[in-house]
Amino acid sequence: MLGTRNLMRPPFSAHPIGIFDSGIGGLTVARAVIDRLPQEHLIYFGDTAHFPYGDKSAHALQGYTLKIAEHLLARNCKLILIACNSASAAAYDAIKTFVGNDAIVMNVIDPVVNHLHHTAAGKRIGLIGTRQTVNSHVYQNKLTALGNSLELHCHATNLLASAIEEFGDHGVTDTLLHAYLTHANLQNIDALVLACTHYPIIKHRIAALLNDRVTLIDPSDIVAATVERTLIQHNLLHTTAGMSPGQKHFYVSDEYTDAFVASTRLFFKETIHLEHCPLEISTVTA
Ligand code: DGL
Repeated sequence: MLGTRNLMRPPFSAHPIGIFDSGIGGLTVARAVIDRLPQEHLIYFGDTAHFPYGDKSAHALQGYTLKIAEHLLARNCKLILIACNSASAAAYDAIKTFVGNDAIVMNVIDPVVNHLHHTAAGKRIGLIGTRQTVNSHVYQNKLTALGNSLELHCHATNLLASAIEEFGDHGVTDTLLHAYLTHANLQNIDALVLACTHYPIIKHRIAALLNDRVTLIDPSDIVAATVERTLIQHNLLHTTAGMSPGQKHFYVSDEYTDAFVASTRLFFKETIHLEHCPLEISTVTA
């Protein structure tokens, strides 16, 4: 059950990093964070009861994700990472307002926008993501706000995250990928942003369908590096001498099956123990 928010407690370096997504896609980001910062404690929340986020309204996503933020704050997270492009697009500002100074809030979009800002001049950049992410134009808007004239070529690949969550790294996604990647917007690109945290699982399939001619931008490591820099800036890196690996807790909002547990291994690359934690949606307001 959800705990009570502790408004008075400042974040400390030994407190956990909270990471969430609509399901298990954000585990690709969690993996990269833990590989870079193995000493950090981690709390992961997959909102499986409301998956997929990509076709929900911004209003609905704000409601779900504020409740998740409350859950992570109640567990004293020092940093909350929205490991979902759709939620980052729809709810980042609302979550930041809700969290205030109780934790650092990060999304998975700003680190990639900064990466493009510094590396993509003169290149033709494609982007695939959910309908929520693509229709929000958040990547383009943030680039423009940085004064960058790069024009992104985006295409919504709506069914992909559900297919990956259902089948994992399976040939069934090739048919979908072929239909999506042959869209006019994605022709003659030099690089493709994988703007959904589920997509790295099938990046070898995406690369093959693009004949290995296109550089794939997998946000996981870019985001993990930004998490590390941010913790250092705030003096919140967990760095006591002789430390053992951090503790990890994984929550999901819906009941789950053995098949679901097995598929988490594909995303996190180790066996994880899931705990069921339903969200009570009606009570949180921004
Ligand atoms: N992993 C989510 C993202 O990065 C998308 C999956 C969903 O539609 O829930 O946007």
